[in-house]
Amino acid sequence: MYIWFTLLAGLALLPALLKTFFPYFFHDLIYIYKALGFGIRLNKYKRKTPFYSVVDCFLDAVRKHPQKIFIHFEDQTYSYADVDRESNKVANALRTVAALKEGDTVALFLGNEPCFVWTWLGLAKLGCPAALLNFNIRSKSLLHCFSCCGANVLIAAAELRDAVEEILPALKEKGITVYLLSDECSTDGIKSISQKIAEASDKPLSPSLRSNIHIRSTALYIYTSGTTGLPKAAYVTHERVWAASFIQGVTGVTSEDIFYINLPLYHSAGFLIGLIGSIERGNTIVLRRKFSATQFWDDCRKYNITVMQYIGETMRYLCNTPKKDNDRDHKVKIAIGNGVRADIWKEFLNRFGEIHVRELYAATEGNVGFINYTSKVGVIGRVNILSKIFFPFALIKFDIEKEEPVRNSEGLCIPAGKDEVGLLVGKITRHSPFVGYAGNKQQTEKKRLSNVFVKGDLYFNSGDLLRIDHDNFVYFQDRVGDTFRWKGENVATTEVADILTMVDCIEEANVYGVKVEGHEGRIGMAALKLREGKEFDCVTTCSVLANYLPVYARPRFIRIQNSFEVTGTFKIKKVKLVEEGFDPRLIQDPLYFLDLTQKKYIPLTQELYKSITSHDIKL
Ligand SMILES: *[C@@H]1O[C@H](CO)[C@@H](O)[C@H](O)[C@H]1NC(C)=O
Ligand SMILES: *[C@@H]1O[C@H](CO)[C@@H](O)[C@H](O)[C@H]1NC(C)=O
Repeated sequence: MYIWFTLLAGLALLPALLKTFFPYFFHDLIYIYKALGFGIRLNKYKRKTPFYSVVDCFLDAVRKHPQKIFIHFEDQTYSYADVDRESNKVANALRTVAALKEGDTVALFLGNEPCFVWTWLGLAKLGCPAALLNFNIRSKSLLHCFSCCGANVLIAAAELRDAVEEILPALKEKGITVYLLSDECSTDGIKSISQKIAEASDKPLSPSLRSNIHIRSTALYIYTSGTTGLPKAAYVTHERVWAASFIQGVTGVTSEDIFYINLPLYHSAGFLIGLIGSIERGNTIVLRRKFSATQFWDDCRKYNITVMQYIGETMRYLCNTPKKDNDRDHKVKIAIGNGVRADIWKEFLNRFGEIHVRELYAATEGNVGFINYTSKVGVIGRVNILSKIFFPFALIKFDIEKEEPVRNSEGLCIPAGKDEVGLLVGKITRHSPFVGYAGNKQQTEKKRLSNVFVKGDLYFNSGDLLRIDHDNFVYFQDRVGDTFRWKGENVATTEVADILTMVDCIEEANVYGVKVEGHEGRIGMAALKLREGKEFDCVTTCSVLANYLPVYARPRFIRIQNSFEVTGTFKIKKVKLVEEGFDPRLIQDPLYFLDLTQKKYIPLTQELYKSITSHDIKL
């Protein structure tokens, strides 16, 4: 009797004991349970022939709740059935006028609007992969991005006509078909297509049109600013699309939720986690052209939004708005995103109430990811048994000065210790593949790291420095040298440097990001070596950059140097420059600041420096 009593008491006490000694045991367990569930589902989809795709999932949702609102946009609403019909029209029109067939890649150059959704969906119904072009890019970058995905068709929004015209001669030369989503277009070489779509049949498309697509086929090309050069088109397979779509489910989003998308649809966060995740859940989306801190909570109240997405910057912008009495008057309960810093995170919760912040870490093309499923502020995720089995990864010691992993006498990498910052690498396996970038073997190779722990092994080099503490929480530390993040966008330093050296007076450019107090990420700065006998051309430099780069990628600070310090392997040294920042009191070299209204670089005075650091000047 007594023994039973002890046993029962012991069992009853078990949860409490676990909670004391393994405080995250239940969090781990629930997460593992959910994640396994999705893993099993994905396996089921894979085995079906033809496999069960996101399009099939959407069509099931249409059958189940045709009248349910799928998209709120400005003052319009579109039901699941509406979006289905619109996408049928797009698909039928494109089949006729462009003779599109499965496997043909089509590039989309559109802003965040409902038409983005049904144009993509129409393409998916035809089995055509879509390349999601960033609508901020222009000229050389735009042409490069378009070309590397191998598309023969470009579909652009009416308001982006000028940007298309700029690269039109090159497109014509390659025989590319260009469609503009407008009723008319008089430019030779651009066809308007809205009329054709409006007149097209809304009859469903036969699944046989996409019957050769399998789960490892490319579904999308999503562009990432990698460590070097121009943006790269990452192959996103159907399998990857599914995996990313499960993030909503894993973080507790249900079909009843109203999901707010204000991040660009050309990135994985907005498109895969937001849009595709919502199709997987069958919930309602509120789509916005562009994030607005002042409109944010009004939108949440107007549409009864329950789930929001964020990047570090948006959290900060929200915290920077003037306090209001109705700050907590909203229904938002989950926030999914990445890049928020611990201090902002706390401020956000204090001000806007109990919102479950689900911070995650993942790269579009990467093969490792983490997700915050406990209640610890500031961490991006947790190491558990599941991640170790399915996504074997490691943090390895990294030499920041040389920008390469530290290797021992046998040429192998060295694991970073607990609480030590290391480079995140993910083992490339069948379950965690790294497919690479379209039309860019060299960049694909650069992201592969071999001889990590044994001769001949192969890992994906994330380019991110992370730290794991004694309780297995994962913290994001920094990116490795060649990229920095500003306004939520990755900037590749070599791409910026290449463009700077197009300017006559500039011989060499060393681009990096520097911290500005009170801002997420790093702002662009360039150290320049001028050509013999040349002066810095404040106006031309500004106009060349404006021609080739989006605002967030243009260096706001310039530092003129006579010579650059180089490493043993002739890489230009950056670490010291990054640390020195842009304080004119500490730096003897001439400094300039990019004044966007005057459209030129102006000398960076002490006074100007103060206005920038005190936020009187908006960056
Ligand atoms: C939001 O919820 C309120 C109260 O439940 C309801 O009256 C209103 O119609 C909802 N708004 C929308 C846009 O669904
Ligand atoms: C995770 O979510 C909890 C619950 O909202 C939140 O309070 C915490 O700050 C987040 N921490 C992690 C582990 O990302």
